[in-house]
Amino acid sequence: MRIILIGFMGAGKTTVGKVLAKKLGCRLLDTDQLIEQKHGMSVQDIFRNQGEETFRRLETETLKELGQEDSDWVLSVGGGLPVRNENRALLRQMGTVVFLRVQPDTVLFRLKDDTSRPLLQGSDVKERVSTLMNQRIPLYQEAARVAVDVDGKTPEEIGTEILEVING
Ligand code: S3P
Repeated sequence: MRIILIGFMGAGKTTVGKVLAKKLGCRLLDTDQLIEQKHGMSVQDIFRNQGEETFRRLETETLKELGQEDSDWVLSVGGGLPVRNENRALLRQMGTVVFLRVQPDTVLFRLKDDTSRPLLQGSDVKERVSTLMNQRIPLYQEAARVAVDVDGKTPEEIGTEILEVING
């Protein structure tokens, strides 16, 4: 089984991914990490030195490479990856896409001290989260086979719920 977790920054894709990978006995892969490893640079530095467009191109490249692998994995993808039409099509071909739906207040609380996400730095973070979320929610919904609400649940509970919904 191949599960792909999508959703906004701070939704818990990596944390829930770890739980799922353990339950399924497979690897957890993460597009941000794969990009950082391959290019020897943090996501932040790629944004800063080469710009967001380059980062988005690397995301698509990473998906295409993963699509050619035979092994099973759980994949957590960067919050902006499903915005590209091409990426949504690739995701759907690659596995069962699960949308982790999170409330804006939870994102703001979880990421209030975060400095690693270039899109959420500076002032007006609340406004930016709200604008980006409104743009992205329909795209996440379009890409996903199932959606799971994450607020107020533990990663373990979310992992169990995902497997029940998928296998149900
Ligand atoms: C981004 C989300 C980040 C990372 C980059 C851009 C986005 O990943 O890919 O900072 O556009 O939402 P997480 O969703 O894992 O934070």
